[in-house]
Amino acid sequence: MAENSNLEIVSASSDHVEWIISMARKEGWNPGDNDAIAFQQADPSGYFIGLINGKPVCCVAGVKFNHIAIIGYYVVVKEHRGQGHGIRIFQHAMNYLNGYNVRVDGLLIHAPKYQNSGFKMAHVNVRYTGAVDNSTISCPFVCAASSVPFDKILQYDARFYADERKHFLAGWINTGTTDCLAYMDKDTVKGFGAIRKSVNGYRVGPLYAETTQIAEILLKSLCQHKSDCRITLDFPETNNHGKALAEKLKLVEVFKFGTLYTGEAPNVDLLKIYSFTCH
Ligand SMILES: CC(C)(COP(=O)(O)OP(=O)(O)OC[C@H]1O[C@@H](n2cnc3c(N)ncnc32)[C@H](O)[C@@H]1OP(=O)(O)O)[C@@H](O)C(=O)NCCC(=O)NCCS
Repeated sequence: MAENSNLEIVSASSDHVEWIISMARKEGWNPGDNDAIAFQQADPSGYFIGLINGKPVCCVAGVKFNHIAIIGYYVVVKEHRGQGHGIRIFQHAMNYLNGYNVRVDGLLIHAPKYQNSGFKMAHVNVRYTGAVDNSTISCPFVCAASSVPFDKILQYDARFYADERKHFLAGWINTGTTDCLAYMDKDTVKGFGAIRKSVNGYRVGPLYAETTQIAEILLKSLCQHKSDCRITLDFPETNNHGKALAEKLKLVEVFKFGTLYTGEAPNVDLLKIYSFTCH
């Protein structure tokens, strides 16, 4: 505990954000190359780093949207674990998020910790990965999300996230490292999907669709022309349509994880979520 008292918690600089991404990579979470940067754009004050003698030893992100916030990138350097740094930086982020309904997507082994911190399990999710056909696909209903009025995308995303993620989505659509597509039926959004490069292949998220067929068209459109198109999908395990699509594409289940909230779990249609945007 002596070391814990030396821990100095500061807001992360852009150099620190690189370090945070490297920590997530070491944990095998396969983050998108620029995910942390996009989340930080959504809430520039929401990244924290713990230093001992000026050297980073732990980190956490607490990103505020409108009334929902998320905790992510919660990691302590291996040699410094078990000395109270984790809980200290976690509580620092939770204080910052005071008043928000805080969401965490965490490994099931950590769920009891989060439950001790006041979170309640909303749903269990599955991660699937595998290589997807990257051949050309043409569908007249699919277009760049950037060509759709932004408010429509914002509202469609809010249907599945139960919050408006204005700055986050603006960053996600316009980072240049993320491909975002929409499936439009005249002026109505019937699906929305994004893909970004990650350590191993590509992360897909979000991917929302009114039908499994739309989800498949969007997914294949996102994957076309990508070399070595190994993808990762994360969706609620109750979404049997997602499971059927993943199995049709011969993806394999890697692990399960939980989504927990400090407040009420939002009432969203989990059966239309084919992948989340999680860390
Ligand atoms: C999880 C992790 C961040 C915890 O950090 P740590 O510094 O080792 O944890 P601490 O020393 O602060 O833990 C002190 C106590 O608080 C508990 N604790 C830690 N984080 C907590 C949290 N967020 N909420 C409630 N309790 C927590 C610990 O279980 C421990 O309890 P115990 O003494 O009864 O065993 C660290 O083990 C780690 O980096 N793991 C790998 C990355 C990872 O899995 N992150 C979580 C992703 S879901």
